[in-house]
Amino acid sequence: MLEKFSLRKNKKDIGTSDNDHSIDQLDLSSIPHHIAIIMDGNGRWAKKRGLPRMAGHHEGMKVVRKIVKASNEIGVKVLTLYAFSTENWKRPKMEVDYLMKLPEEFLGTFLPELVAENVQVRVMGNKDQLPPHTLRAVNKAIEDTKNNDGMILNFALNYGSRYEIIEGIKQLIKDTNNGKLTIDEITEELFSNYLMSADLSEPDLLIRTSGEIRLSNFMLWQLAYSEFWFTDVLWPDFDKKHLYQAIAEYQRRTRRFGGV
Ligand code: FPP
Repeated sequence: MLEKFSLRKNKKDIGTSDNDHSIDQLDLSSIPHHIAIIMDGNGRWAKKRGLPRMAGHHEGMKVVRKIVKASNEIGVKVLTLYAFSTENWKRPKMEVDYLMKLPEEFLGTFLPELVAENVQVRVMGNKDQLPPHTLRAVNKAIEDTKNNDGMILNFALNYGSRYEIIEGIKQLIKDTNNGKLTIDEITEELFSNYLMSADLSEPDLLIRTSGEIRLSNFMLWQLAYSEFWFTDVLWPDFDKKHLYQAIAEYQRRTRRFGGV
């Protein structure tokens, strides 16, 4: 541990650290409009420290606050965070219960700051299955921030992309059956309006932490042309310099959307 620390310190001293990213390296005129993040690695972060998994989730919640602030400061317009998937119910009850308490704790602590920062809170997911206490907390945040017109903080909570697509298809079929639209009117753009992200632009940049390189049923339709950035950093260790690093890399890429 000591050795690791001194190695890092030396690297930083000579200015070669990969993580040595600052806001000065960003082109503030081309900040991604919409950033989506799969916040992964809370459990491993805790395990490495001999702590219960919940400690990792709690630390992860604090990082959410820091990244929301940093994103807002540099002009990100939409930040979508994958907080709980439709598959996460399979975890031990104690962990699920804890994860369902986090939105309350987060919003109970930080909602006044989010209001002051003009952030609009939203939730994308099946809210019907959330415990009443979680639902109350998120509904209050949505209500209290609904007139804010700054950054949208979109929590994917009890979200699953396949579920979202199936629900969209069911509604689309209902609308064709009741004559609201004809089959020929169905286009990609129209179908996007049947998704939970209907009025949001598609993510420009997807970040996933913790070294896992997969989508885990997250925004499968919306990420079709997004830039992906993966890092080994565990979510509780993620901070704004990693966010800047991801954006700097995004700004070096050429997006062709299938063209040349
Ligand atoms: C994945 O890590 C993380 C989650 C399933 C939960 C993410 C939740 C937070 C970061 C806090 C949410 C905060 C708010 C405000 C709602 P993991 O548990 O799968 O980690 P592991 O892969 O290392 O086990």
